[in-house]
Amino acid sequence: MSRYREVYDAWLKDPLAFWAEAAKDIDWIKPADRVFDPAAGVYGRWFPGALCNTAWNCLDRHVERSRGGVTALVYDSPVTKVRRTWSYAALLDEVATFAAVLAQHGVGKGDRVVIYMPMVPEAVIAMLACARIGAVHSVVFGGFASKELATRLDDAKPKVIVSASCGIEPGRVVKYKPLLDAAIDLASFKPETCIILQRPMEQAPMTPGRDMDWETLVAVARSTGKRAECVPVSATDPLYILYTSGSTGQPKGVVRDNGGHMVALNWTMRNFYGVEPGETFWAASDVGWVVGHSYIVYAPLLAGCTTILYEGKPVGTPDAGAFWRVISEHTVAAMFTAPTAFRAIKKEDPNGALIGKYDLSKFRTLFLAGERSDPDTVKWAEEKLNVPVVDHWWQTETGWAISGNPVGLGKLPVKYGSAAVPMPGYGVEILDDGGHEVPRGHLGNIVVRLPLPPGCLPTLWQASERMGPSYLDEFHGYYKTADAGYMDEDGYLFIMGRTDDIINVAGHRLSTGGMEEVLASHKDVAECAVIGAADALKGELPVGFVVLKAGVSRPAADIEKELVDLVRDRIGPVAAFKTAHVVARLPKTRSGKILRGTMKKIADGVDYKMPATIDDPTILEEITAVLRGG
Ligand code: COA
Ligand code: AMP
Repeated sequence: MSRYREVYDAWLKDPLAFWAEAAKDIDWIKPADRVFDPAAGVYGRWFPGALCNTAWNCLDRHVERSRGGVTALVYDSPVTKVRRTWSYAALLDEVATFAAVLAQHGVGKGDRVVIYMPMVPEAVIAMLACARIGAVHSVVFGGFASKELATRLDDAKPKVIVSASCGIEPGRVVKYKPLLDAAIDLASFKPETCIILQRPMEQAPMTPGRDMDWETLVAVARSTGKRAECVPVSATDPLYILYTSGSTGQPKGVVRDNGGHMVALNWTMRNFYGVEPGETFWAASDVGWVVGHSYIVYAPLLAGCTTILYEGKPVGTPDAGAFWRVISEHTVAAMFTAPTAFRAIKKEDPNGALIGKYDLSKFRTLFLAGERSDPDTVKWAEEKLNVPVVDHWWQTETGWAISGNPVGLGKLPVKYGSAAVPMPGYGVEILDDGGHEVPRGHLGNIVVRLPLPPGCLPTLWQASERMGPSYLDEFHGYYKTADAGYMDEDGYLFIMGRTDDIINVAGHRLSTGGMEEVLASHKDVAECAVIGAADALKGELPVGFVVLKAGVSRPAADIEKELVDLVRDRIGPVAAFKTAHVVARLPKTRSGKILRGTMKKIADGVDYKMPATIDDPTILEEITAVLRGG
């Protein structure tokens, strides 16, 4: 029997008592004056008046309670063939030392630190070191190019940037330092200090006076016994900023606070994921994404678990058995990844032959998120691994699951294609465009009744005025998720797609509007459109269509290649933008709106209705011919 209904109803009946109870599992320097202040912030603030420190709760308190010898972090890197572990006591030592290095370089409470790093343990150490001294980190995913990084530098204005000489992608070393240098050149804001981790595969040239060597700084701090202690911060102070795609090229700086974030994440480990202190939890994601922040770094450490930082891929490092090796070698109890990773494995090893090579007897649950879990992939994983496979739905903005099947409270029946039921904290409703609730089973806008629970974004970094237009104004009293879907008679949610221009490529969230801005900047392009076309492996892939300026006579193939290169150069390889088509015209409504939805249907090969407002229906035939290679 699942306790889900009882627990959800307890939250519904008295939300403040529910979160006050959950807050007891956190160490507070000073308890909150009240659980929630509805008058503070944009929609209220959780735990005002409380003082706390997130790094203390992740590290020191476990050491204080005689758990310093428990493994906190495992670094498993098939691409460098390195495996290392840190106990809670050892990780605390690294973090306190690096925090002292940051402090020495002028980083104090409230200062920002941008972390642009591959999947190395130093990224985790840097994040926790910031938390320790009350600094605000902003991790930028390594697959983003200089321009994206520059935009984030200008917005976050970091006192220090922490980076590395390189990342390792299968078959190639990605030099990070030239990307960082180019970003600093592009940005108006110039940081005073960059701390660079020199990796053995690539020695980065250093800019005198600005660039410092990670290892040297840490060695000096260590030899002089420098350590930084935890700085008390308000529960409502920012812990980090994580930029995510908005509907333009200007990313949104999602702010996470300290107190509510700890309470919510800690609650999820036992109640949602069903994992106990001392067990191993593995999120195969990247620290540059929200899944990495929440479930590689913060939640497992808050809960006293062992977490794994995996620098590798599901396939090719070295084969489609990589995940099973990690699970068996590190006795993983629960794993979290994106469905696309399983589609990649299934493609290479359709019969799951490599699974049999490993002992997975301690593995209990597979969690999937980041994009819709297609029933075929879920069923394949269930059958081959013989464990429950749980789809759960969330966003960078929420930081933890809005809905899912809470195995910790007792698993509910699975419905394939559904991200299961709302979590305590989230009053989920489905509304039509006019803001009226739609009947069960009917598609609509998925919204969450305000206030959002602890852990969700209280605001956008130095842009609280963007909260209204982005999330709160359209449906009064609700947070707009910008996902569309329906709820069935049993209260199960089915997430069907975005209502804005965001697409999901291999579990990565990208804005087609941002890509259009890049295409439009090409000197020969008059107008353009980017759509997300269905892809069997990555879920969606961007496809661009451009109309050239009058008089341009260069070969279309040359321009198409330049456009592909331009997106890779401006946004980064993560955009996976590999297809651009030069077309004569774009299909539009009579009022001039480009019919992207119809173009997507054509690309996906699904039936479409001729839009009543279309200006010239023959253009759709032209688009069809281009997509069919005609
Ligand atoms: N630094 C530099 N480049 C990076 C990078 C990084 N940190 N991460 C990805 N890239 C590059 C890749 O090398 C690839 O480059 P290419 O076009 O030259 O091949 C490009 O960005 C696209 O990356 P990706 O979409 O991840 O494709 P992939 O083919 O490398 O791998 C999967 C596909 C499915 C194996 C991979 O996306 C995956 O494991 N995804 C699931 C886990 C996950 O990350 N989820 C995210 C949120 S939970
Ligand atoms: P991100 O902010 O990168 O985590 O991306 C959030 C978006 O990914 C959501 O708004 C959804 O569109 C999509 N998403 C995440 N998890 C799921 C899921 N389990 N099912 C369907 N879509 C999902």
